Amino acid sequence: MNQQELNTVARAMVAPGKGILAADESFPTIKKRFDSIDTESSEENRQLYREMLFTAPEASQYIGGVILFDETLRQSCRDGTPFAKYLAEHGMIPGIKVDKGAKALAGFPGETVTEGLDGLRERLAEYRELGARFAKWRAVIDIAADIPSEFCIHANAHALARYAALCQEADIVPIVEPEVLMDGDHDIDRCESVTNQTLAEVFAQLAAHKVVLEGMVLKPNMVIAGKKSARQASVQEVAEATVRSLTAHVPPAVPGIAFLSGGQSAAEATAHLNAMNQLGDHPWELSFSYGRALQAPALQAWHGKAENYAAGQAAFALRAKLNGLARSGSYEAAMEPAA
Ligand code: 13P
Repeated sequence: MNQQELNTVARAMVAPGKGILAADESFPTIKKRFDSIDTESSEENRQLYREMLFTAPEASQYIGGVILFDETLRQSCRDGTPFAKYLAEHGMIPGIKVDKGAKALAGFPGETVTEGLDGLRERLAEYRELGARFAKWRAVIDIAADIPSEFCIHANAHALARYAALCQEADIVPIVEPEVLMDGDHDIDRCESVTNQTLAEVFAQLAAHKVVLEGMVLKPNMVIAGKKSARQASVQEVAEATVRSLTAHVPPAVPGIAFLSGGQSAAEATAHLNAMNQLGDHPWELSFSYGRALQAPALQAWHGKAENYAAGQAAFALRAKLNGLARSGSYEAAMEPAA
């Protein structure tokens, strides 16, 4: 393990003013996104869409890393340049999703555990050959009346830590993503307590598995009320609760925290990150690793039509820029495009 290299890559992924684009949708997920714009999820369309994002003029100023799906890491720009090479040459570190998805956890109805550890050592070696310098593994914790169970949190944290240790052995920076979902009707306090419980177990398992904190990036949910909750918290409340939870559980040795957007609108995700960075100096970089919140406006602008390619790139570049500004608390709602 090259700890120096791991730390250098981790810091570059969350460099000031920059964040990460999550473009690692699996086949079923990208199909769902393309269905929403009546576009076929063909290999050609997936290549074109990802090329539109990666080559958007100006976006690379605000993007320090891109998470790819297996198929995408093996694809190239239309001029023949492999995506991984293009990204690296433009200052965006290529990364790879390596988990195989959240599967039903036997004996625990309604709960899941993320799979993908079998053969991971060999897959990581190949991905590094293909240019990946970091990886992602997403664990999912759902909130409802009787869940999550302690066992579900433990099983997911254990798998996350095994994944992270294997990544570091292969000189690949692990993005450790324990996502507490915002799908329920729970209030923000419930999200805070489940997030606290989850982060405590994740860091206990990372320590037990001897994961080097300086060589990883944490990708957590924000502390936020469930989508179906009667009371939605204010931007300030979300920012304060999230920073409180992270301060209590994330050691300062972790170089950066890059949030998922989890179903927030693009503008909400930017406003929340901005408010957190306005709360003052934190021991870690507070950044973004958004999928939907970076891509949704671009997907809508493009709509699968060649004549909208430049409009799609402009919509993505704007989202990247606004989130880049939120990294230093310099974003304002007035910067949003008129509806
Ligand atoms: P969202 O920002 O759309 O939640 O996606 C981020 C991600 O990579 C989830 O694993």
